Amino acid sequence: MARVIAVANLKGGIGKTTTVVNVGAGLALKGARVLLVDTDAQGNLAMALGVQPRRTLYDVLVDGAAVDRCVLEARPGLHLLAADATLLGAQPVIARRPDWSRVLAQALQPALGAYDFVLIDSAGSLTPLNVNALVCAQDVIAPTTIEHFSVKSLDLLFTQVGRVKGGSGSIRMIVPTMYDPRVRQSGELLSSLRSRYGALVAPPVRVNVRLSEAPAHGKTIYEYDPRSRGAIDYALLVEHISKTFGYGAAAQAAPAPVARRPAPAVAPPTAAVASPRSASLAPSAESCPNCGRSLQHATLAGYRVSYCDHCRYKTQVLARER
Ligand SMILES: Nc1ncnc2c1ncn2[C@@H]1O[C@H](COP(=O)(O)OP(=O)(O)O)[C@@H](O)[C@H]1O
Ligand SMILES: [Mg+2]
Repeated sequence: MARVIAVANLKGGIGKTTTVVNVGAGLALKGARVLLVDTDAQGNLAMALGVQPRRTLYDVLVDGAAVDRCVLEARPGLHLLAADATLLGAQPVIARRPDWSRVLAQALQPALGAYDFVLIDSAGSLTPLNVNALVCAQDVIAPTTIEHFSVKSLDLLFTQVGRVKGGSGSIRMIVPTMYDPRVRQSGELLSSLRSRYGALVAPPVRVNVRLSEAPAHGKTIYEYDPRSRGAIDYALLVEHISKTFGYGAAAQAAPAPVARRPAPAVAPPTAAVASPRSASLAPSAESCPNCGRSLQHATLAGYRVSYCDHCRYKTQVLARER
C-alpha cells in the first residue's frame, strides 16, 4: 500500500512543486512506483515534467473517473495525476458535498495498491482541496525557504494540520529550500529551525539556478543537469526520505543495476529516464576527510555522491563500472 505524503506549506513560491518533482523522480529512479497528484490549479507539475495530460484530477473529483484512467506515465515508474485551471471549477462542487474533506481520499483509495509513494502537491493557500490533501495524507513534508516569513508560516501549517488531523504529528519532515550558505542570516535561520524542530529538519536544498531553469525545459534536475548542486541536494533528500519512510532496505543491501553498467563519459539528459532503477545508498569503508566518520554513498543518474551524515561534507564523481 502506498505511503501518501502531502507536500504542503501555506505559502507559495517556497519550493513545494520543485520538491514534489525531484523527490518523486528520485524515488522512481530508485525503483519505487510513484504517483504525483497535483491539487494546484496552476498545473505546474505537468509543465515541469514536460507532459500534456488529456485527463486531470477534475475528471476524477467531479466526473467520478477512475484514477488509473486519468494518470499518465511521465517517466518510467513515475505517474502523474495532473491538474489544470479546470480544477478551480471543482472546488465549489466539492465544497457542497457533505463529505467534502474526504473526496480526494476516497477517489485515490482504489489506486493506492499500485504505488509505493503518492506525493500530493498543494497550493499555497487554504483551499478545500488543500484540506483534502491533508486529510488524505498519512504524512506531511513541509518545504520552507530559509527566510523569516517562510519560517513563521510553518506555525500556521502546524496549526492547520493540528486542526485537520487532530494533531501535528503527521508533519514528518521540514525541508529547507533555496538555502544560501553564503548569506549569514540563512545560516542563523537554519540553526534556529534546527533548534526548534530538531530531527524533523532535513538536509537543506541549496539555492541553485539550474533548479529554476529545469521546469522550463520540462525536465527533472537529474535530466537537466545531474552534476548540479540541485541534483546532489535532491538526491540526498531522496535518500533521507527513503530512510525516514523505510523504503529501499533491499536496495541498500544489493548494488543497484546501474553500478554494474558502464557510465557514460558525460551523462546524457535522458540517462535518468532510461535507468529507472539507478539509485542506491550503501554504507562505505571510506572516511570523511573533514571529520573522519564513515561516508555514505548515493548513486543517481550516473553520478556517485559521497556524503557525511555528521558534518555534511559532499563530493560527487561519475559512477564507474564495477
Ligand atoms: N533550490 C532552489 N534554487 C533556486 N530556485 C528554486 C529552488 N527551488 C525552487 N526554485 C524556484 O523557485 C520558484 C518557486 O518554486 P516552486 O517549487 O514552484 O514553489 P511552490 O510550489 O511552493 O510555489 C520556481 O521558479 C522554482 O523553479
Ligand atoms: Mg507549486
